[in-house]
Amino acid sequence: MHRDSEPDRPGTRRSAAWFGLDGKLGFVHRSKLYNQGYSASMFDGRPIIGICNSWSDLAPCNAHLRQVAESVKRGILMAGGVPLEFPTMSLGETLMRPSAMLFRNLMAMDVEESLRANPLDGVVLLGGCDKTVPAQLMGALSVDLPTVMVTGGPMLNGKFRGQDAGSGTHVWKFSEEYRAGRMSRADFGAAEACLSRSSGHCTTMGTASTMACLTEALGLSLPGSAAIPAVDARRHNIAEHAGGRIVAMVEEELTPSSILDRRSFENAIRVNAAIGGSTNAVVHLLAIAGRAEVDVALADFDTLAADIPLLVDLLPSGRFQMEDFAYAGGLPAVIRELGDLLDTGAATVTGRTLGENTADADNWQPDVIRPRANPLREPGGHTAVLRGNLAPDGAVIKVSAASEELLRHTGTALVFDTVEEYHEVADSPDLPVDADTVLVVRNAGPTGYPGMPEIGNLAIPKRLLDAGIRDMVRITDGRMSGTSYGTVVLHVAPESAVGGPLALLRSGDTVTLDVPARRIDMDVPDAELRSRATALAPPGAESGGGYAWLYRRHARQADTGVDFDFLIGRRGHQVPRRHL
Ligand code: FES
Ligand code: MG
Repeated sequence: MHRDSEPDRPGTRRSAAWFGLDGKLGFVHRSKLYNQGYSASMFDGRPIIGICNSWSDLAPCNAHLRQVAESVKRGILMAGGVPLEFPTMSLGETLMRPSAMLFRNLMAMDVEESLRANPLDGVVLLGGCDKTVPAQLMGALSVDLPTVMVTGGPMLNGKFRGQDAGSGTHVWKFSEEYRAGRMSRADFGAAEACLSRSSGHCTTMGTASTMACLTEALGLSLPGSAAIPAVDARRHNIAEHAGGRIVAMVEEELTPSSILDRRSFENAIRVNAAIGGSTNAVVHLLAIAGRAEVDVALADFDTLAADIPLLVDLLPSGRFQMEDFAYAGGLPAVIRELGDLLDTGAATVTGRTLGENTADADNWQPDVIRPRANPLREPGGHTAVLRGNLAPDGAVIKVSAASEELLRHTGTALVFDTVEEYHEVADSPDLPVDADTVLVVRNAGPTGYPGMPEIGNLAIPKRLLDAGIRDMVRITDGRMSGTSYGTVVLHVAPESAVGGPLALLRSGDTVTLDVPARRIDMDVPDAELRSRATALAPPGAESGGGYAWLYRRHARQADTGVDFDFLIGRRGHQVPRRHL
């Protein structure tokens, strides 16, 4: 039994700085926990494992994580550890306003401070919905205790009228059909429940599925964990294994900083291209790398993916959904298929390498997970990073979700200062648009909105929809949902609200998108841009207080991951001062 008045003794567990103490302080730390019926065995020196749970009824994708936590607890107990589950803030993508992204950094702070302040030796993170997984990873990496992530898993495939229908992707499709009068109000309403048939996160390769896959590619979750449906018994099996594994990781002192290096992130970026992952992965991975103190740049998402074919045929880039992906073999099959395109020597939470973890992974359905010899899309077709006089620090476009014929396009800009202004006129028969128009919505960046919302896949104007137009070039300093598709230039940096050149663009200007050349430019002479810049009103004085004020002051731009400037890096898990 650890009993000592020195909180930071080398060679002892971190939790011993609480439970191993004699005197008043040890008494207080232990005594209160007896109120939950624990016996003294809890304090005999076994690892104390936090289960950091983002369960919330307000985050429907995470609403089942209380049950998943029970399986994690079982695994921890079976391995001789003590599980202590605790809640943090959670982020429900579909409900939070103005944008769940506004709160990603806040949740990361909650996770970080909860881990450091408490008597924990290791942690299992339970997340699912889009922002919850990156927020948990960001917080945990800054603390650097032994960490395993268990994602909540996707819902069962959406099914509507005998057809598969995917989260998000089919919402956008159906709502366009409804606006065009090709789908009845009753049918549109009936589809609501059909897209959410079980617990779990979105069924398409949207941001949640992408981040689950990239967590696995980084080596921070157990092999196979990303794809298994939330209601599949094997979700609980993997949760139990994670519980067992974290106890061993504490013994091995296997921390995220001893797992993650540049190779891990290169693998994740390459896997993102092979799975047709969400553009949101770009901002999240940049932020996660910042916490891990690994150098990753925006350009890496283009250059590292240049030789990666699209292998996974999932919506929105392809046809299938996560449930199909799980049955086909999930991410281990993709990793094995990618083979020498990855650095399979990278470390993982299993204590083995990525390559060792996936050496026996089978691909059971080559139509869902394509072999390298027969990819869904040839290499070079994923995230393109654009630069030009509209985006000096960069912008991204998901090529696999765009229209081939629009990848080189020149058109006249129609510019909106807010997304609300666009929504007011989107259905107007007089809107001055044709199929070549470039729709622009600005002030949707990190600090401008604030919170960089997913407004980028603007609905096609009604008069064009009626004429059968399904895609057009759109540009924004905001993001778009990982479940959406279209020729949409996103994450323009610097954003217009901090004086980025997008603020200088006017309706009527000519804009050229050239994805093969990686360019996004406005055809406006430099002298004219300088005079427009002089005329530009300076950014308004920051009004209001609260968290949004903090966010506006400290959120970095999209090209570096939108983390707060003061949160970058590791701050470790040194035991804080006592208070008694
Ligand atoms: Fe939560 Fe899509 S809304 S994962
Ligand atoms: Mg989403």
